[in-house]
Amino acid sequence: MKILIAGGAGYIGSHLVRELHKLGKHEIIVLDNLSTGHTAAIPQAVTFEQGDIRDKQRLDEVFAKHKPVAVYHLSASIEVAQSCVDPLSYYENNVSGTVTLLQIMQKYGSKYFIFSSTAALFGMPDRIPIEADDTTKPVNPYGETKLAVEKILHWCDQAFGLKYVCLRYFNACGADEAGDIGEDHTPESHLIPLVLQVPAGKREKVFIFGDDYDTEDGTCVRDYVHVTDLASAHIQALDYLGETNESNRFNLGSGHGYSVKQIIDAARRVTGHPIPAEIKPRRAGDPATLVASSTKAEKVLGWKRKYDSIDKIVATAWKFHQLHPKGF
Ligand code: UFG
Repeated sequence: MKILIAGGAGYIGSHLVRELHKLGKHEIIVLDNLSTGHTAAIPQAVTFEQGDIRDKQRLDEVFAKHKPVAVYHLSASIEVAQSCVDPLSYYENNVSGTVTLLQIMQKYGSKYFIFSSTAALFGMPDRIPIEADDTTKPVNPYGETKLAVEKILHWCDQAFGLKYVCLRYFNACGADEAGDIGEDHTPESHLIPLVLQVPAGKREKVFIFGDDYDTEDGTCVRDYVHVTDLASAHIQALDYLGETNESNRFNLGSGHGYSVKQIIDAARRVTGHPIPAEIKPRRAGDPATLVASSTKAEKVLGWKRKYDSIDKIVATAWKFHQLHPKGF
């Protein structure tokens, strides 16, 4: 099958491309505007097209040339705090860009769409762990943009039979075990890579954004899921669409929550560095606790995680950062 991966040069996208490429079953085309992605993160044998999902003419050229049957869409803006400061750019890229991508898919008759959605849909959840069909009520623009796309997809299915799977990632982290691809954002905003900058000698200490949340140690609790496990769920989602021709949505997490302090402790164990930490005020848009139930993905997709130890996950990220002190 011909598969286009929008955002395939990014952090999660490049891990997906690697796993799909290893399978050797599909023809892969990566589309990326390289605003945050890196061509060094994708195998040379994979076709690369530079382009932005907001650029309809460029998308038209790429689709006319490759006519992909399935599209994975991982090319969104992803920072919760930034989305609170600049909501319009989030709506422009995440909603308007996705609409353009869907219009071109409709024009060229692409059948399947696999969407990178998010735990941020659930806002302040009513219960933990969060089930895939629990109520969605985002508390930040980032989550709103992802929810808007999930709703758009429902109507595309009704109107012209586009079959889709929404994958709500909880906190993607870690790196491929080989250590040659990993998380490299500029500027970095995610907890694990920021914590690892301390033992890497790039910063003196890490900041903890709020220790007065209603959690055991007062710091935010998140569900950290390894990026290679996320990649395998994407592959199973495409198999699912091919087998059932039914749209669906799944949560992807580990079922375990770790506080910011627990993550810093894991990094201390893995790196052997004391990693000083300082408490700062809360960051805008942060819910106290987000932990997934992935039972539906396990039952319906047959998803099994390879990584359940937070130390092992942090160790894979640490290996990438040690091998790439300057990033890609
Ligand atoms: N945090 C700190 N210090 C830092 C960085 C982060 O205390 O220097 C805290 C944050 O306040 C938050 C937690 O660590 O409580 C995790 O923050 P991240 O920025 O690593 O991740 P988020 O939970 O904000 O968001 C990530 C993705 C989103 C996705 C979400 C799903 O960026 O795209 O996980 O849970 F929606």
